Amino acid sequence: MIFPINLSEHLLKPMNFASKLKNWYIINQRNLPWRSTTDPYKIWVSEVILQQTRIDQGHDYYLRFTARFPDVKSLANASEDQVLKMWQGLGYYSRARNMHTTAKTIVDVHGGKFPETYIELIALKGIGTYTAAAIVSICFGYPTPTVDGNVLRVISRLFAIEEPIDKAVGKKMIFEALNEIFDLENPGIFNQALMDFGAMVCKPKSPSCHECIFKMNCAAFSQSLVSKLPIKSKISNQLVRHFHYLVVLFEKNGELFTYLNKRGNKDIWAGLYDFPMIETINEFSPEQLTSTERWQEFFVEGNPELLNVSAVYKHQLSHQLLLSTFFLIRTDEKTAWHDPVIMIRLKEVYQYPMPRLVDRYITENNALRKVLENIYPGLHDKN
Ligand code: ADE
Repeated sequence: MIFPINLSEHLLKPMNFASKLKNWYIINQRNLPWRSTTDPYKIWVSEVILQQTRIDQGHDYYLRFTARFPDVKSLANASEDQVLKMWQGLGYYSRARNMHTTAKTIVDVHGGKFPETYIELIALKGIGTYTAAAIVSICFGYPTPTVDGNVLRVISRLFAIEEPIDKAVGKKMIFEALNEIFDLENPGIFNQALMDFGAMVCKPKSPSCHECIFKMNCAAFSQSLVSKLPIKSKISNQLVRHFHYLVVLFEKNGELFTYLNKRGNKDIWAGLYDFPMIETINEFSPEQLTSTERWQEFFVEGNPELLNVSAVYKHQLSHQLLLSTFFLIRTDEKTAWHDPVIMIRLKEVYQYPMPRLVDRYITENNALRKVLENIYPGLHDKN
């Protein structure tokens, strides 16, 4: 292909690029727990966590997850609830469910031995081209580039690629450019160094161009294009959803019970538990909510009393903004809800894997507890 700049003149010879990057990495790399291992199980866990999570948040999750499930067998033997509980708060829960499925496949089909080839790896659930490339390059030394958002940005700037990076033409140009500079001798180091370089120097906003070791070789820098690159074609259209959670309290023999809803596969948070909920296109007042058909259906046997309405909890997902209000309700009868809604002891609520949004309502400032203490002063210790 024809590059906007001539590689050999501007960018440095490939080996010079790779060795300069490697030297930078030796001094500047982030100190991360998975950097000291080439165990494919642990690299897999770290890469899956990092797919949609910032490193500072992912760091602690990685340590907890690998302490609880130190190898593929322990993950395969766990229940889905246990796996989701360890993942609670990280979001994108299909990552955890897919890992669980894949751990079982590795045990059942591969005799517990982690596959070592790209082809075998991408056949596994939840392992795509990026994760397979990371595992085979870091653990087994295969020359396979990992192209994440950092790499797309660094390469599109270095080579001033003005094609959208989320389209086939732009992607092809990125791969061809990477091919020119790839370090065949140290693929794992090269891949991780380029990602670190993107995260620490060639940042999306306010990149450190003046301290950049490649600034004399960067086509975007010389053409004042840095802030414009990379180019993306997609405009994200965000969906706004209004969730009205029904936190129902039901007292029996001095104990408090509530209801949880196990979420199905067709929507966000599959397999996690939240409270039963009424979703609407606009925000509903308590009066509007109580006149909905679903409310009438829920409380057909009970006698609901609305105790408290929370503030609106905002929760941003990648393409959805969730605006949630929690309605604390007391009933004197069991409600008429069926599977997937279950009745549990309120004090056991922490055992269930939950979306961060719901966990925030339960734990943040102890809001729920404070409301409960006022209403049921005698129940404090039991519940
Ligand atoms: N982002 C995702 N995986 C990474 C890795 N192995 N090194 C640096 N950044 C990453």
